[in-house]
Amino acid sequence: MKPKVLVSRKVFDAALVLLNKHFDVESNQRDVPYAPTQLVKKLQGKSGAIVLLTDIFDERVFAQCPELKIVCNVAVGYNNIDAKAASRRGIMVTNTPGVLDDTTADFTWTLLLATARRVVESDTFFRSGKWKGWGLMQFTGYDVHHKTLGIVGMGRIGKGVARRAKGFDMRVIYTDIQRADEATEREYGVMYVDKRTLLRESDFVSLHIPLFAETQHFLSDPEFALMKKTAILVNAARGPIVDEKALVRALKGAKIAGAGLDVYEKEPKCERALLSMKNVVLAPHTASASIETRTDSGRRTL
Ligand code: GLV
Repeated sequence: MKPKVLVSRKVFDAALVLLNKHFDVESNQRDVPYAPTQLVKKLQGKSGAIVLLTDIFDERVFAQCPELKIVCNVAVGYNNIDAKAASRRGIMVTNTPGVLDDTTADFTWTLLLATARRVVESDTFFRSGKWKGWGLMQFTGYDVHHKTLGIVGMGRIGKGVARRAKGFDMRVIYTDIQRADEATEREYGVMYVDKRTLLRESDFVSLHIPLFAETQHFLSDPEFALMKKTAILVNAARGPIVDEKALVRALKGAKIAGAGLDVYEKEPKCERALLSMKNVVLAPHTASASIETRTDSGRRTL
């Protein structure tokens, strides 16, 4: 008899075909997330679970699913899973590192450019039929080329973002818990600085660190106070790394110039005030959402 596996949300068919070869699969192809009690119910008798980052696996869930042996997150970040609680119970947790680095780096640049050059705002304006012809002062944004890019977290995605910055002739500084070796710094053309220097000197601050207790609210009021008034924040990492209320204060108080966001503190919601800010570009957590990468993520899970 094949072991039983639950697939908690819709995944690409390529992954399901592979799974079906080896497991007795129950999959939620409606793609509506299970409520916590429903998730526990569905997990009864299952040895494995293929899950998305909207599924919360904590001690309470593990305690009610004694047959569960492995939880596979179709994502790189796994802050939705209490990995310590899983390990205490001998349950393996896996993620999908490596598949989305370039796709997420591409999207980081999409947000950065869209915010700096007011792409969403001008698109909305054009569609409204209000454009009456070319004007010198219309939709002037910020240059990106030759500016300073501050990367927080020089991991795989941070490196991808730095590599792309070369094409824009930027000065790239970075901060991390550990300094990269000299060869890496040379290869990516980046200079290590401390957090305060990065915040003070960057025209663009881009976040690429995982969400842990230590990185929660990595940016809050004191940090925004250090940033340039013309700076743009890009967050395609995890929402709670930024204190969203403090971000709203910083934007309202013109302490920074704008933000390109893909992630939020309490998804699928964000601070209401952000919704009406023209200098903010909001994406619904889609940085890794290319067809190729999302298909690969599904395959990689197996
Ligand atoms: C997406 O946010 C991921 O962590 O894979």
